[in-house]
Amino acid sequence: MKIDLSSLAPREAHDLLTSAIIPRPIAWVSTVNKNGDVNLAPFSFFTGVQWYPPVIAFSVVNREDGSKKDTVVNIEQIPEFVVHSVSVDLLMPMEASAQRIPIGRDIQEISGIHLIASDIVIPPRICEAAVAFECSLEKIITVNEGANAGNLILGRVKVLHTDDTLIENGREIDWAKLNALGRLSGNRYCEIRDVIRSETN
Ligand SMILES: Cc1cc2nc3c(=O)[nH]c(=O)nc-3n(C[C@H](O)[C@H](O)[C@H](O)COP(=O)(O)O)c2cc1C
Repeated sequence: MKIDLSSLAPREAHDLLTSAIIPRPIAWVSTVNKNGDVNLAPFSFFTGVQWYPPVIAFSVVNREDGSKKDTVVNIEQIPEFVVHSVSVDLLMPMEASAQRIPIGRDIQEISGIHLIASDIVIPPRICEAAVAFECSLEKIITVNEGANAGNLILGRVKVLHTDDTLIENGREIDWAKLNALGRLSGNRYCEIRDVIRSETN
């Protein structure tokens, strides 16, 4: 089968891409606006860009009405954010933060997490997250305009927070202890259970 993506409706293209690009890690992002209101939201179009100096990126698409999501609006006002990893036990608060919560009310409406001050960026970080990257904005790459247009947010990682117990060999995060949630399509997620060790790498 060959699928012409230009003939698809936005929702059909979404379903195809999010079921083909799997599993995806989830960037759980805290931002603040110029009034100091904190926002939290998850984004699974998330990846690393380069490791030295470290830069990571996630993509926030505009809403159907063409408006920018609060995460983008906030980063345009205060160009700093914290990207947290999502462990399996944080699925429920992470999903709760994806609801359209009025500005400034996110943290009151989400149970199971607490915010603590970051070391060098203004947005606070989630205390319960196993890994948190404090980032300053490197750049925003806008792709198209209006409904569904992408805003690729590139962040320079300034500080990484993790629990001492997650560090393996003094230099890596232990994947089993991190227990990161992977995003599939629809309402499906996965966790890492079987790891394949390559003999050739
Ligand atoms: C697991 C998960 C992954 C998501 N990934 C994305 C994504 O990659 N890009 C995006 O624009 N929205 C994504 N969303 C939807 C946003 O989280 C949602 O639109 C949210 O309300 C945006 O919040 P904000 O307006 O506070 O920025 C995802 C939602 C969930 C639950």
